[in-house]
Amino acid sequence: MNVQTSRGGEQVGIAYDETHRVWLLRTPHSAYAVACPSSVTVHHQEIPDPLLHVYWGEPVTLADAVHIGTVKRQRWSRRGFESPLDGAEEYPVRGGIRFGRAALAARFGATRSIEWRLVGSNTTRDGDTHQLTVEFADGPLHLALHYRIRADTDVIERWAVVTNTGDTPIELDRFDSATWTVPEADEYRLSHLSGRWSAETQLRHQILTDGEFVIGSRRGTTSHQANPWYAIDDGSATEESGTVYSGALAWSGVWQLATQKLSHGGVQVLGGVGHDGFGPYRLAPGESLTAPVFAGLYTADGFGGASRAWHAYQLRHVMPNPDADRPVLYNSWEATGFDVNEENQKALAARAASIGCELFVMDDGWFGARVDDHAGLGDWTVNPERFPNGLAPLIDEVHRLGMDFGIWVEPEMVNPDSDLYREHPDWVYHFADRTRHTMRNQLVLNLARPDVADWLYDRIDALLSDHDIQFVKWDMNRPFTEAGWPAETDNPERLWLDHVHNLYAVLDRLRAKHPGVAFESCSGGGARIDMGILARTDQVWTSDNTDAPDRLIIQHGYSQVYPARAMSCWVTDVPNFLDPRTVPLRYRFHAAMAGVLGVGGDLSEWSDADLAEATDLIAEYKTVRTIVQHGQLYRLRPPSPGLSAVQYVAPDRSEAVVLAYLGAQRFGERPPLLRLAGLDPHARYRVDGVDDPLTGAALHGFGLPLRLNGDYDSTLLHLTRVGD
Ligand code: DGJ
Repeated sequence: MNVQTSRGGEQVGIAYDETHRVWLLRTPHSAYAVACPSSVTVHHQEIPDPLLHVYWGEPVTLADAVHIGTVKRQRWSRRGFESPLDGAEEYPVRGGIRFGRAALAARFGATRSIEWRLVGSNTTRDGDTHQLTVEFADGPLHLALHYRIRADTDVIERWAVVTNTGDTPIELDRFDSATWTVPEADEYRLSHLSGRWSAETQLRHQILTDGEFVIGSRRGTTSHQANPWYAIDDGSATEESGTVYSGALAWSGVWQLATQKLSHGGVQVLGGVGHDGFGPYRLAPGESLTAPVFAGLYTADGFGGASRAWHAYQLRHVMPNPDADRPVLYNSWEATGFDVNEENQKALAARAASIGCELFVMDDGWFGARVDDHAGLGDWTVNPERFPNGLAPLIDEVHRLGMDFGIWVEPEMVNPDSDLYREHPDWVYHFADRTRHTMRNQLVLNLARPDVADWLYDRIDALLSDHDIQFVKWDMNRPFTEAGWPAETDNPERLWLDHVHNLYAVLDRLRAKHPGVAFESCSGGGARIDMGILARTDQVWTSDNTDAPDRLIIQHGYSQVYPARAMSCWVTDVPNFLDPRTVPLRYRFHAAMAGVLGVGGDLSEWSDADLAEATDLIAEYKTVRTIVQHGQLYRLRPPSPGLSAVQYVAPDRSEAVVLAYLGAQRFGERPPLLRLAGLDPHARYRVDGVDDPLTGAALHGFGLPLRLNGDYDSTLLHLTRVGD
């Protein structure tokens, strides 16, 4: 059934031209078109029902899209040794006359080639949400390609579902969520995020040359090394102008984004679950497999515009409770490490409350035999020597001090030296005849097993039911190795997907049962930050690296796609455990105020002057945090040894916050004027420390002189609109 939800494609919705079989998806500031002609000619043969990419960019009409589709096909190469289908299809499969990367590669016994026929399509509307589904079948293999758009975002969500309608298994070597085709350009510049532990989400750019460039994770988690996001422009986009095509995969396990630049010029990005050694996944008779959302975004407003669109989309459509401000937390890890006990946590809590923290989080070391990282993981019972009366006295004291209480867990892991492992040695990923290699002295529980997932849910549910807890920091401190499941003989590769599906299901169940509990995703810092986990967590631990100058670089990369509302940041002690430099407390606070502020230093060592300064800075943060956590981000100047700055503008542009950082002063020079962005040019704004209000236009066009000097100097400026 075809439901036409928008005539001609002039308004948000999906329009369909039945004669040419062209769909136009219209978002507020973009259009996306696909066509499924009844056939195309490839090397003198008719190929039925190809689903072709037609258009992605600024809004066009349905008539334009029909025309563009026709012209594109007229321009197809007819050369020998080439396939015009390569680079032209919405979801290329392995099989037929195709030589590019396949989004779907299947084996039906000895046959490894797919020949589709269109079996249906429909568009639906639910309020402001519009969805297109196009369905294909090749014998028992059924494929549904989904597109979803909404009235308040230019993000297009795409995903795929495969079903085996036959009576023998079908093996899948590759099953991507979607393929995004970037319009023709003279050059293609890829931006992506790269890193490692304590150096996550560093922004990288490179010009694509012919061939393939692949980022991904083989580690079972999203990873520190790469993040499932990309942006492509023609090399000319800037922070605030130019066309950018971007994509992000909502998945927290193994994944791959493959960018291919074909020799005839086109660029496609294929993305989905599974690394290159993944598979085959044996799809059982009757089984359906749903790929996670691989969302795409077009913007004409540069990298900053793309980031703001991603942030708004996640706050509106991905994250739970996005409207709530996140509290200022204190975390014990860098102060007491594994040596937690009732007395030292109470002492830290008293100091945390006195400086204005609102949530006290006790980190690792409170359970089982966990006095260091050699033992106890998996035994989720309170250590009686450290907490002789259980956790209640500490929790009650934290509440009496006016703070919420949070606790650290790492539920997907087990130390071999634990009661859990002694009882259930088969509960970890392993191969029967291979070494079970530990990392950080621990093994990964086989969460793909339903009994392990149930056990895990029960343990955390009991912890939350037995204690008055408001926050859980959910950690995950090693990648998978020897990812085997000897008892699962039919489809052992399913563990890569089922681990994540079961993790999501456990979190969803816990959230439903304990709606007052917020969750933080942590994986040795930032190895599990993605839109899949953000759909069921309230914030993410950005990095174990809390050195403020390094953190500005990490936060810059993070902010390309993820919102400040989820970015957990702590102020810790100097020298930092990674770098011996000394950075003023104020600078450390200003770095952490760019997201969800927290404190992680050893407060028992802070001087009265430090505590007083921290109290003032936390109070100041509370006056501006709604703007930081919910405002629109403008990256005024990227991290650099000189001046860098970020700005957050309230949605109604009545207020703004600027955080500016001077890394080092050189040659006695003043820092450059800081030109602001995103304000109402006609409104006047009062700026801290400036006598006369200035118009938004003046703040954009001339800028602000900053009183910063020396090394590691910083400032927070709060702008308030005073009238037109
Ligand atoms: C890794 C986390 O990133 C740290 O913040 C801390 O929670 C440790 N794990 C505890 O083992």
